[in-house]
Amino acid sequence: MSNYVEINTKINSFKKQIFVPEDKSLSIRCALMASQAIGKSKLKLLNSDDLKSTLHCLSILGIKIVRQNDFYHIEGRGINGFKFKKNLVLNCGNSGTLLRLLPSLLVRSPYKIKFIGDKSLSKRNFRVADPLNQFGAQFSKNKTPPIYMKGTNYIRPISWKEIKGSAQIKSSVLIAGALHSPGITKIIAKPSRRATENLFKHVLKIPIKITKRKNRDHIEVKKTEQFKSFNYNVPGDMSSAAYPLVLTLLSTKSQLMIKNVNVCPTRIGIITILRKMGANKKYIRFKNKRFIKGEKVADIFVKSCDCLKGIRVPIKLNSFAIDEMLLLFLCSAKSKNCSYYSSISELNAKESPRLKIASKILNLMGVKNISTNNSIKIFGNPKLNLENKKIEIKNYMKDHRIFMMSFVAANIFSGLWKIHDKDSIKTSFPNFLNLMKNLGAKIS
Ligand code: S3P
Repeated sequence: MSNYVEINTKINSFKKQIFVPEDKSLSIRCALMASQAIGKSKLKLLNSDDLKSTLHCLSILGIKIVRQNDFYHIEGRGINGFKFKKNLVLNCGNSGTLLRLLPSLLVRSPYKIKFIGDKSLSKRNFRVADPLNQFGAQFSKNKTPPIYMKGTNYIRPISWKEIKGSAQIKSSVLIAGALHSPGITKIIAKPSRRATENLFKHVLKIPIKITKRKNRDHIEVKKTEQFKSFNYNVPGDMSSAAYPLVLTLLSTKSQLMIKNVNVCPTRIGIITILRKMGANKKYIRFKNKRFIKGEKVADIFVKSCDCLKGIRVPIKLNSFAIDEMLLLFLCSAKSKNCSYYSSISELNAKESPRLKIASKILNLMGVKNISTNNSIKIFGNPKLNLENKKIEIKNYMKDHRIFMMSFVAANIFSGLWKIHDKDSIKTSFPNFLNLMKNLGAKIS
């Protein structure tokens, strides 16, 4: 079976209602924390390759997991209740979140553990060796997988400064602190998504204190002895919702309702930025807002908007839109005037060096842009039309977000597109192509 799609016509107008897959960040955290709970948790999780890697690692560590219809039943064995064995190898597949969070559950392992990943993950910095080493765990010197870790029984609480705005690094420290370290673990963090904090506070009842000072989150977490199993129907992922949202916004005379999406403030940077670009509440609004286990959930209504204008994107929104930046670049390409994104070097630390690749793709599309390692200026054109232009998007480290962003571009700007590596969608959004076909996308 070929692993590419060809798209030769842009999408017609549509009016639909859809659901998107469950939030990936929350699904991975729920599965990991359920393994440490006392008793059986019943979870509705994202069903994708990143979750398969998570569940596979947990089952290697002795956790019983049964799938029944839409739910996973995970039998927790309590904190540090894993069945540790010699020569354990844990394969995190394509998942950076799993690679950074899983070791924080394992800092008391009596045996050496080897963490590996796929080709893309094996190029990514492990990032959590320093904080977990301060707790007492030891790591091999290399920065990228395979990583070897040796646990310890002498865990000490730490104070950590998280300066990148990385929710993964912050979460790793929070989990190791709450589960394993006596006393209080302190973190001063550049704000980033708060899935772990919400889970601790609203679901697991782990003592956590968060105060905001000078645009930093000051977090204190106290060691917990145990917590009970829990049930969770994880809401839809804003990062997945962003593809049909931008498709609707940039297409003509279309409307979409995206049901049941996690719209907590640390996940909706893309919407805040789009509003600043002119997509006000007439074009994007939340309906049926509610709180579920500390997460704000809503249905998102979106309709086509032909009045976007370029802006200088405020740096403080970057980490709240980090996985949606590629889509924002497409919006900038179809806006009046220039857009300028700065302090976005974190984009190059993702499944592929996304900033570099995005600039290449914009060049292929004939969109003038000036990029550095850390910034991009995009010269927009509301009339951009690629009719008859041939564009081939290669397999860039099998990055799911590059594939999906290119797919949206093909359906907005016309042209003759060949986009490789459709299998990459399995990591986060396995039914992406079916959903796009349902909206009217024609794939040849
Ligand atoms: C994630 C946080 C972000 C995001 C990633 C998922 C998480 O990474 O890009 O897809 O689940 O915490 P960083 O925390 O490294 O920015």
